Amino acid sequence: MNSLKFSALQDRKPVKINVRGEDICVTRIGDEVFAIGDVCTHSDASLSEGDVTDFKIECWLHGAEFDLRTGEALTLPANIPAKTYQVNIVDDVVEVQVN
Ligand code: FES
Repeated sequence: MNSLKFSALQDRKPVKINVRGEDICVTRIGDEVFAIGDVCTHSDASLSEGDVTDFKIECWLHGAEFDLRTGEALTLPANIPAKTYQVNIVDDVVEVQVN
């Protein structure tokens, strides 16, 4: 559980949150919110500091791109998908499910 407000999220401006010890990159695109593991699967960089284009986020360190919807690693040097998390929006609160 976290207190992230949907209305406080800016479009395509990812933020890092921590839920039960897991760093998670949360990105609003239009009326949807996507959550993937914040640590790039290539090395130790924070994906929430990257740029978002369409449904892709680009790691700022070496440029790997990930699909925010599926976590798929779209370009090298990353070849391991990012973990994805289910997101629910309830009364303006963004709930990221961590199992
Ligand atoms: S750390 Fe993300 S592409 Fe290298």
